[in-house]
Amino acid sequence: MAGTEDFFEHIKKGYTTKGDYIVMGAAMQNGEAVTDALVKIPLKTLNRHGLIAGATGTGKTKTLQVLAENLSQKGIPVMLMDLKGDLSGLAQPSPGHPKIDERHAKIGIPFKANSFPVEILSLSEQDGVKLRATVSEFGPVLLSRILDLSETQEGIVAVVFKYCDDQKMPLLDLKDFKKVLQYATGAGKAEFTKEYGRISTSSTGAILRKIIELEQQGAELFFGEKSFDVMDLTRVDAKGQGYINILRLTDIQDRPKLFSTFMLSLLAEIYSTFPEQGDSDQPELILFIDEAHLIFKEASKALLDQIESIVKLIRSKGIGLYFVTQNPTDVPNDVLAQLGLKVQHALRAFTARDRKAIKMTAENYPESEYYDTKEVLTSLGIGEALISALDEKGRPTPLAATLLRAPMSRMDVLTDKELANVIDKSSLVNKYNEIIDRESAYEILNEKIDEAEKLAEKEKNKPKPRRTSTRQSTRQNPIIKVLTSATFIRGVLGVLKKVMR
Ligand SMILES: Nc1ncnc2c1ncn2[C@@H]1O[C@H](COP(=O)(O)OP(=O)(O)OP(=O)(O)O)[C@@H](O)[C@H]1O
Ligand SMILES: [Mg+2]
Repeated sequence: MAGTEDFFEHIKKGYTTKGDYIVMGAAMQNGEAVTDALVKIPLKTLNRHGLIAGATGTGKTKTLQVLAENLSQKGIPVMLMDLKGDLSGLAQPSPGHPKIDERHAKIGIPFKANSFPVEILSLSEQDGVKLRATVSEFGPVLLSRILDLSETQEGIVAVVFKYCDDQKMPLLDLKDFKKVLQYATGAGKAEFTKEYGRISTSSTGAILRKIIELEQQGAELFFGEKSFDVMDLTRVDAKGQGYINILRLTDIQDRPKLFSTFMLSLLAEIYSTFPEQGDSDQPELILFIDEAHLIFKEASKALLDQIESIVKLIRSKGIGLYFVTQNPTDVPNDVLAQLGLKVQHALRAFTARDRKAIKMTAENYPESEYYDTKEVLTSLGIGEALISALDEKGRPTPLAATLLRAPMSRMDVLTDKELANVIDKSSLVNKYNEIIDRESAYEILNEKIDEAEKLAEKEKNKPKPRRTSTRQSTRQNPIIKVLTSATFIRGVLGVLKKVMR
């Protein structure tokens, strides 16, 4: 193995950047940090997505915290999917600790505590800015993907959207959507059949069942108004620090369908809203998804395809996606293949399956004359990780086992009072938390059905039967009236008599 000086030069050269960067920590050789051998990630490549992986308790969430802080300091806003509720500490400075000073002395950068501008978001009843989207915004394709519909069922969803469009009927929440579906095969059957062809009750029934499944995971809280403007995620505070938007998802662990629905809609919305960015010096927004295996866990093939293509496309909008998960094999291969930054914390080799995963993970890293990757993967300490990134030209940087810097903010969570304080100060809470239920498909169709029923009732209560009324109207016809009148018949008979003579 080569000496420390060679190693230092190797890292220094591999991690030199022309533009601005963030520092992750110092590279380690033989288990020890080499002071000043800094592992720097160019801001320019941060939209190339990333992965933070490692066994439980090895430091993944703190790495996420470190990345978020450093991005915020560079004026880059971030959004964190906080599934365990352990990220709110970003709003308070770290109290410091001798161990943190020791860590930073080894790395070669001074430790400075800092707090960050935090916005708390929520998908459910929890406090914070409510994130919502309307069914219309989802569109027929995405909604069908989420519901995992067949082609025929997808066709029906498209017709429902078209009908609402034609009728200028807003589709806001799931209540609206269900109402139109029921209407299509119920009171509105004739109208639908005439305009769009026959719709089978069994198909609408199947779609309704899928919607109910989604509702059982609490989706009705998410669908509706006021819909969230994703541009509000890109705010920067007065000091030039990017906002850290923390979406608290502690109550969503057991609702993977809702989580993947939300993630997909968010990504689609971001993709359609953000402008193409071209070749830029830094990203517009970075999204971190902690416990990312939850999005992939129950995703259908169609949904996975959709996620893969969005991951591919969203990069050009300056958006970086970072998946945090225990095992890299939790992330589908097609997504893994697109990740520029990999931060791999220690893996544990308890079972044969673990050893296989370690072998596979090691094979996915660039070779290095300084490391036996498999060995490093199992011997990394807490707050240490194997890093492989992209340089500004898009080439992989040298593999670096890294002693990671400590978070500048508090590693522990906020107290309830501190959290309430952050939410109180938020300007977005007022913007998004009023409940709106304006007239939409549900109300419009109910009115239409009501009117039709009233009309039918009126008809039914009319005193004369239909037949009489037909005769009445025939008699009222002036021509028939003339033709059948006694004077006319007498006249005709008179003429005939004359002719016969
Ligand atoms: N960069 C770091 N600097 C200082 N201490 C760290 C660092 N990373 C991790 N630690 C220590 O390790 C502990 C566990 O880290 P963390 O919560 O990030 O693990 P994790 O991999 O996310 O675990 P889990 O799988 O349970 O979510 C932290 O509470 C902290 O004490
Ligand atoms: Mg964690």
